[in-house]
Amino acid sequence: MNAQPWISVVGIGEDGPAGLGEEARRRIAEAEVLAGGRRHLALVPPSEATRVPWGSPLEDSVRGLAAYRGRKVVVLASGDPSWFGVAKVVLRHFPREEVAVLPHVSAFQLAAARLGWAIEEVGTVSLHNMPATRLLRELAPGRRLLVLTSGPRMPATIADLLARHGHAAARVRVFGHLGGPRETMWEGETAEVAGQRFPILNLVALALPRETEATEDAAVLDLDDDAFEHDGNITKAEYRAAAIARLGPGPGRRLWDVGAGSGAMAITWLYRCGTGAATAIEKRPDRAVFIRRNAARLGTPELRLVEGEAPEALPAEEVPDAVFVGGGLATPGLLRACFERLAPGGRLVAHAVTMGGEQALYRMYEEVGGTLQRLSLSRAELRGDHLLWRPLAPVTQYAVTRR
Ligand SMILES: C[S@@+](CC[C@H](N)C(=O)[O-])C[C@H]1O[C@@H](n2cnc3c(N)ncnc32)[C@H](O)[C@@H]1O
Repeated sequence: MNAQPWISVVGIGEDGPAGLGEEARRRIAEAEVLAGGRRHLALVPPSEATRVPWGSPLEDSVRGLAAYRGRKVVVLASGDPSWFGVAKVVLRHFPREEVAVLPHVSAFQLAAARLGWAIEEVGTVSLHNMPATRLLRELAPGRRLLVLTSGPRMPATIADLLARHGHAAARVRVFGHLGGPRETMWEGETAEVAGQRFPILNLVALALPRETEATEDAAVLDLDDDAFEHDGNITKAEYRAAAIARLGPGPGRRLWDVGAGSGAMAITWLYRCGTGAATAIEKRPDRAVFIRRNAARLGTPELRLVEGEAPEALPAEEVPDAVFVGGGLATPGLLRACFERLAPGGRLVAHAVTMGGEQALYRMYEEVGGTLQRLSLSRAELRGDHLLWRPLAPVTQYAVTRR
């Protein structure tokens, strides 16, 4: 094995080699193999190097670089290859010590510079290979976002999404070819975006108003129960919040939502994590339909659905950081199996509303410890002219950490 990295992932801007540092230029000049998108390869003047344009799927092309092991391979990428870029894909296939990454200024940085925005106060999102609804979890009053898009029609799709979710008054800027001689910037209201033509390569900057309008769909943003399609079997929003808080969401963390019903837990988890992973396990096909539809509508394409009965259906190849059990508590071995599959330090939370379920929780508590608590909730509701408390079924919550 080479001690020196033989793959250099070099970030390049719209201005081509002229904008690169000395080291990046040297690596490109000495490269025996140049790999990248056709647009990137075209930025570099002709040379003796073998040119390897990416095909589809990208993963296969990257894996194919193994054929050049030991030669000087340069992978060209946009801006900073470690920021929603190809570096992650390369490092999935080659060991860390075989790869060097040379970042360039990213489009996010260029847009922030043009706008005078401090990047640490701004959300950065990529919609490459993602539906526009992926943005929903990022929307909040007063938030500013920089969004990498794919395609000239994406700005209009984004503007439409904002308008339907209470942010019609957002200020939209669309940058084209940032950092190059043909750089463009359009600025306007969400209602004006649809009539514009934008370059294929664009970045959308959004400044959301502090006050949102109450639209029919605005509830989606809070992920209250109405945000989901369900048949009544849903962990109510307040109970869901109590479970999520104990499960400990965070970037990159994986949840199993066992007995997922509508998928509300798994989807809320993905919203809270920003970038996380979730697998919904549900035995009833009619509820699996809800899960699929809710995930599509609420922009969580990364949600994995396993249709089947736990514990048999628990995915063998995954190690969850958190498990929520909302159904099937009385199934023999289910709770134990979920607990044992947790990563060290991982947390299990289970909710029971029936006596049978509660007994299963109590047995687990006796065997492995943890905490038990009873949650009860009443909601004020109008009956005629009177406001009355309507109690919801109390929930017994069991929580335990895997040591
Ligand atoms: C109360 S609902 C869960 C609600 C869900 N947390 C939500 O917010 O939509 C319980 C679900 O568990 C499912 N279920 C019960 N036993 C199961 C098992 N062994 N494996 C998978 N799903 C199961 C049921 O079909 C039902 O949809």
